Amino acid sequence: MIQGNSSSRDGFSTKFGVIAAAAGSAIGLGNIWRFPYVLGQNGGGAFLLIYLVFIAAIGIPVMMSEFTIGRSAQLNPVGAFKKIAPGKKWHLIGSLGVVTAFIILAFYTVVAGWTLEYMLQSVRWLLFPESSGVAGLTGDASREFFQEHYESFTNGIWRPVIWFLVMLFFTGFIVVSGVKRGIEKYAKILMPVLLILLLVLVFRSVTLEGAKEGLVFLFKPDFSQIKDAPVKVILEALGQAFFSLSIGMGTLITYGSYIQKKENLANTAVSVAAADTFIAVIAGLAIFPAVFAFGINPGEGPELVYITLPVIFQNMAGGLIWALMFFLLLCFAAITSTISVLEVIVAYLTEQLKLTRKRAVFLSAVSVAVLGLICTVSSDVFAVFNASPDILLPFGGFFIVVFIGWFFSKNSLKKELSSNGARKIGYYPVFLFLVRFVAPLAIVFLFAIGVYNKIINVFPSMG
Ligand code: PFF
Repeated sequence: MIQGNSSSRDGFSTKFGVIAAAAGSAIGLGNIWRFPYVLGQNGGGAFLLIYLVFIAAIGIPVMMSEFTIGRSAQLNPVGAFKKIAPGKKWHLIGSLGVVTAFIILAFYTVVAGWTLEYMLQSVRWLLFPESSGVAGLTGDASREFFQEHYESFTNGIWRPVIWFLVMLFFTGFIVVSGVKRGIEKYAKILMPVLLILLLVLVFRSVTLEGAKEGLVFLFKPDFSQIKDAPVKVILEALGQAFFSLSIGMGTLITYGSYIQKKENLANTAVSVAAADTFIAVIAGLAIFPAVFAFGINPGEGPELVYITLPVIFQNMAGGLIWALMFFLLLCFAAITSTISVLEVIVAYLTEQLKLTRKRAVFLSAVSVAVLGLICTVSSDVFAVFNASPDILLPFGGFFIVVFIGWFFSKNSLKKELSSNGARKIGYYPVFLFLVRFVAPLAIVFLFAIGVYNKIINVFPSMG
């Protein structure tokens, strides 16, 4: 089993299950919470255009590389590199992925916990508008109300901690059930529900009066918007692309190891990337028209969803029932992502350190609980953890494409991509060109200017 005996190994049973699980990992708070606020802070349409280029030229090749490594080795990220490149240092990339998984899981589960708070509060606001103080609020008063709620909630200790632990518990519970019965089963139900809920929200948002300005902001690339800090915008677009696609830390190596040999990896990667991008754009479509219709600042920051949306929802016909639906959806989306991050750690612990699945989940959940508690208490730690994927994921992604492009046997690569010769891979030369040159050089280049920028920020005199 440890050595990748595919017959005894747990795995995804259907093609839809694979796509639902991988898309479930990709689609989450990154699309609905992070993407709109990062786009809002980085100039709108111009950011979107750069983001789309990164998804196509870097994201999809990295994703295909991760699937290839995982499926060919049938192991977790550390075990996979050890098996494919024995005696070499490549497994350190897998180890970095496991460490990154802890960091991401900690802050991500904290934000996921907020969705539970807002779900519950929406019910309260809906059922008891008078006593909760939400009745009859309009304009600035309504904004102040939700701002205050956000601040008192995130500055408090107990509620964020409890919601975080509840989220972590659910995540652990699903992961304990294993790949087929746990991850695949839940993803298959949750992902289509998510799409339907989002489409309802989009319909509501784009039919608001004054929605057009939001559409222009989202879709019209205006490069003058990013001229003040182009490096920051480009790097955040790159980091966001990696974060949103769940690539660069071995999540999709792990999921790739559960994909059956007959599945088409290129097709799966393109479908997942397309679904992920579609949902991000749809989330933007749900949010920005409403943001502009109600005269809210699109560059609000990480609280965009958590402060501004309740204001918008409260001002809509149908009221806070929209909020309830939205936060429920966000909670679904988050949990299909948290389970994929936890699975990276659990696959490592069960296969490399030979722990039972239950023990592995328990041990990793306890460790994540400690890190997450620090995040809920310290907003500085939270901010550092939230920003770190922008560096760690492209860093890991660089080595993953270099590994596939320059070190992985080309025979094995063709075998994986073509399902052992069963299908044509006309795209192969393009793929090879992307993983050998385009993706690694772009990442190194962008990284270099990013590091340069950071140094200048820390030591302004060097600029
Ligand atoms: N892609 C997820 C999202 O957009 O919400 C977050 C994520 C999951 C990042 C898994 C990285 C990862 F490995």
